[in-house]
Amino acid sequence: MKLFIDSGNLKEIESLVPLGIIDGITTNPSLLAKEPGDYREILKKICQIVKGPTSAEVVATDYEGMVREGRDLAGIDPHIVVKVPFTKEGVKACKTLSSEGKRVNVTLCFSPTQALIAAKVGAAYISPFVGRLDDIATSGMSLVQEIVEIYDNYEFKTEVLVASTRGPIHIVEAARLGADICTCPAAVIEAMFKHPLTDIGLEKFLKDWEKSQGVKA
Ligand code: G3P
Repeated sequence: MKLFIDSGNLKEIESLVPLGIIDGITTNPSLLAKEPGDYREILKKICQIVKGPTSAEVVATDYEGMVREGRDLAGIDPHIVVKVPFTKEGVKACKTLSSEGKRVNVTLCFSPTQALIAAKVGAAYISPFVGRLDDIATSGMSLVQEIVEIYDNYEFKTEVLVASTRGPIHIVEAARLGADICTCPAAVIEAMFKHPLTDIGLEKFLKDWEKSQGVKA
């Protein structure tokens, strides 16, 4: 399963990429709004650091505007994936942009029918928002399971990009369901590394070793 960072923050991205486990980045208008500076420059830098798919979202809501913005975003760097919201206008824009060879990530997916439609218009990625569904007492992972099943049935090439993840358990569940990608805030990726038994075990190994060296000396 590929792991993306859901962030527009260069420091977070720069600190995680050297670990060798990051395959791409997702951003959205809320995330980029938090970062000072020109969003185009930020996106360009992110692409240079990650050298992998980097989702950048349109903010227009009409078809023409989305296509115009999508073409502009795609021109920033070859790694840019154009993100469009799941609306009728977004679906039409996805069809146009995909037919031009641009990769499109259809975002704000909350139902399997939306995922089916996105695949039919050639989306490279579909982004089900699991955390926001969990927030309203609906299982986000059930949606992921349904999408994976539907895409497998018809061999759609669209990749399932699990988004709005809130903790490492979302990563585990997404991986067990065979989702292609999980995008996570930096803190969630950091949490994947932590286990108290690892820390306790390492401390004991080192103490035992130190003791034995003292005896030998
Ligand atoms: O990738 C989508 C993500 O940024 C949304 O996450 O936590 O705002 O639901 P959240």
